[in-house]
This record gives sequence, structure tokens and C-alpha cells, in this order.
Amino acid sequence: MKLYTYEELKSFVDRCTRCSLSQTRNRAVMGYGNLNSPILFIAEGPGRNEDKDGLPFTGRSGEMFDRLLSGINLGRKDIYITNIVKCHPPGNRDPLPAEQEACIPYLKYETLLLSPKIIVCLGRIAAQRIIRPDYRITREHGTFIFRKNIWLTSCYHPSAILRDPSKFLEVQEDFYAIQNKLRDI
Ligand code: URA
Ligand code: SF4
Repeated sequence: MKLYTYEELKSFVDRCTRCSLSQTRNRAVMGYGNLNSPILFIAEGPGRNEDKDGLPFTGRSGEMFDRLLSGINLGRKDIYITNIVKCHPPGNRDPLPAEQEACIPYLKYETLLLSPKIIVCLGRIAAQRIIRPDYRITREHGTFIFRKNIWLTSCYHPSAILRDPSKFLEVQEDFYAIQNKLRDI
């Protein structure tokens, strides 16, 4: 198998027409961050800001994400963050199963190139796609599963905190658990 470089992968994503989200997007949004990071965050799909900027988590959810990261002394330069689908679903709807299926090879390739020790799913959509189809985020967030040499976990999506600020402390706890896991590995 020919191994593509990260830059080649990004250029495929930028020009991709594998699903119909390509017809409504402004810009495809490749993941972003430190390619040597041990930690990979996966959310569901770009929002409107991200569609404009071409980068993940640049809007209000991104501010919340940065706040959670800085709480465990990390910044964007220390981590890598990406999405299940790389193009904005119109009206911020959930990405359809067919769209996820079309886009997942890019995520697999990002994961191969990054070779993370920990994967954190942000929100239900990512957790059900990456961890288990029947994953229950309300019950299982913050717990770790070891699979194929990678620790998998989840927490609520930052936008869930924006809708319900009482979730902040719970997500912060999950970030502390991530910090501990990073120390252990
Ligand atoms: N929400 C997501 O799921 N992904 C982004 O990139 C931004 C907001
Ligand atoms: Fe391609 Fe993924 Fe965008 Fe669909 S969402 S067009 S598969 S990059």
C-alpha cells in the first residue's frame, strides 16, 4: 500500500466529492494540530464558522474546547483535533450514516499517521461511530476502553456545555481523567 503524506491527505480532503456535503460546503475542514501528539480528539463535523475558516473548532465550541484544554495545561499545539465528517452538514444537522461512511477513510488515515495513544470522542455521534454503535454517552463518558493499543474515551461535546452550562464540571472531571491517563502512558 502506498503511504500518502499528511499534506497529500489534506489535499484529497480539500478537493473531495465523495459525498453530497461537498455540494453545500464552503471549505472542507481537515483536522488540525500537532502530528506528534499522543492524543487525538474526534468530534462530529464542522460548524458554520469552521466551514468559513477551513479549520476545526474556531467558533464558540472551539472557545469552550480551548478552556477545557487549558484547564489541563494543554493548548492546540499539544493535541490534534478532527471530525468524523470533514464538511459542514447544512443547518448543523447530524451527519448521515452514508456521509460518515464516505468520510471515515480520511479519519482512519489521519489516525494511522498520528498513531495516538488516547482517542477522545467529543459527543455522542463520534463515540457511537468510534467506540460502539450503542454507546451511551450519558452513562459512559469519562470511562476508558483499551482497544488495539489505544485508550478510547468520550466526554460531552463542548456545544452541549454551551446549551447546558451545568455540564461544565462533569466535562472538566473527564479532562482530569484524560490528564491522568496521559501521565500513566
Ligand atoms: N463542532 C464540531 O463537532 N466540530 C467542529 O469542528 C466545530 C464544532
Ligand atoms: Fe468528502 Fe468527507 Fe466532505 Fe463528504 S464530508 S465530501 S466524504 S470530505
